[in-house]
Amino acid sequence: MNNYLETNKQRFLDELLDLLRIPSVSADSKFKDEVRRAAEFVRDKLTAAGLDDATLFETLGHPVVYAEKIVDPAKPTVLVYGHYDVQPADPYELWDTPPFEPTIRNERIYARGACDDKGQFYMHIKAIEAMMATDGLPCNVKVMIEGEEEVGSDHLGTFVVEHRDMLKADVILISDTSIISNETPSLETGLRGLSYVEVQVTGANRDLHSGVYGGGVANPINVLCDMIASLHDENGRITIPGFYDNVMDLSEDERAELAKAPFDLNEYKRDLAINDVAGEKGYSTTERTSIRPTLDVNGIWGGYTGEGAKTVLPSKASAKISMRLVPNQTPDEITELFTRHFTAIAPSGVTVRVTPHHGGMPYVTPVDSIEFEAASKAFEDAWGKKPVPTRGGGSIPITALFEKELGIKSILMGFGLDSDALHSPNESYGLFNFYKGIETIPYFYKHYAELKQ
Ligand code: BES
Ligand code: MN
Ligand code: MN
Repeated sequence: MNNYLETNKQRFLDELLDLLRIPSVSADSKFKDEVRRAAEFVRDKLTAAGLDDATLFETLGHPVVYAEKIVDPAKPTVLVYGHYDVQPADPYELWDTPPFEPTIRNERIYARGACDDKGQFYMHIKAIEAMMATDGLPCNVKVMIEGEEEVGSDHLGTFVVEHRDMLKADVILISDTSIISNETPSLETGLRGLSYVEVQVTGANRDLHSGVYGGGVANPINVLCDMIASLHDENGRITIPGFYDNVMDLSEDERAELAKAPFDLNEYKRDLAINDVAGEKGYSTTERTSIRPTLDVNGIWGGYTGEGAKTVLPSKASAKISMRLVPNQTPDEITELFTRHFTAIAPSGVTVRVTPHHGGMPYVTPVDSIEFEAASKAFEDAWGKKPVPTRGGGSIPITALFEKELGIKSILMGFGLDSDALHSPNESYGLFNFYKGIETIPYFYKHYAELKQ
């Protein structure tokens, strides 16, 4: 096996770079054909790796790629999930090298999707190829790579329900999360959920002269800023009534366990070029970004933003707001609470509209399962260290859906770093992480097959 990985190292990387050259931005319809091209690329590589029936399944959105290799129906089945779509790369001018012209610098691959998630799911295809070319697959494998994760997986739910039998498996294996550091491997035991809304505040029926009307008519931007500012109190807590009602607080023991994960605050600040961290009082940065819910403005606009000055009182102001959720909050409940509260605090003189976007349930994976044990042992074999259990701050909404619709738990075996700049300019993925992932994955299959007997 290790011999095979060594011999084919360069080819594995070259193939990934080819995939990274395809701008499969799911959010932007201008890239629709490129998204399909990425799906076809993945399908062809699944076939080349030796899997059977690699197919593009059409959905109402971007296609799902699926392939499988059933070596023995008596053996356990692993369903690999990943996504070939990527976030938009704008603003392009902030990239040191173009986002879709992958470049290797300082032992890292720089490109949009390098880590999230092309670099990570591609490790699975290469690990499966390597297993098949050497000692054989210890488990059956099914691979499902979707093209709409970054826009909320709108059509994957239907796909899953319509293909329940095809997707039958014992465990779902996902590499789309982070480890603590290359020295400290970790396994995420949960993810946050998401409620995402857009708000619009409307004042007068048209933009107004800010001298003629200013001072006498509500300014939607001023109002929106006030309203948003009031959503947190002085302790960084969210003021929406009922927001915390269903939050499952961790016991002191659980918090102490989480606090064992190494975290270097100075390194964290240095990486982000900030002189201090911020957040909810009484919680550490690790807790604030994993076990606590949040509310953040993701974008805000209105009025005149062009060159020079235009003296205008805008008619409308808008913002996009995300709320990260933790067990047992649900997106429906939180979106409802937000909408009720945000509408209630609107002053007279404006009207407020709240439009819900996608949401997702939080997710937790049990650590006392053989699936988790197999993943833990795989890390130990490849890294010489037991992985530290952590809770992730990001969201992969489909994990909760897999559990609900298929009754299968997901193992979050990610190999990225939080500092890989996912969704940001200059996203990158370490060559070390790419190769280490390919090395770690086969150990999972080996241990899982043994433990499942
Ligand atoms: N891979 C990320 C999620 C992630 C990143 C989890 C790092 C844990 C650590 C995923 O592609 C992502 O960005 N998800 C979105 C979900 C949304 C579009 C529904 C997110 O978290 O914003
Ligand atoms: Mn991802
Ligand atoms: Mn992402």
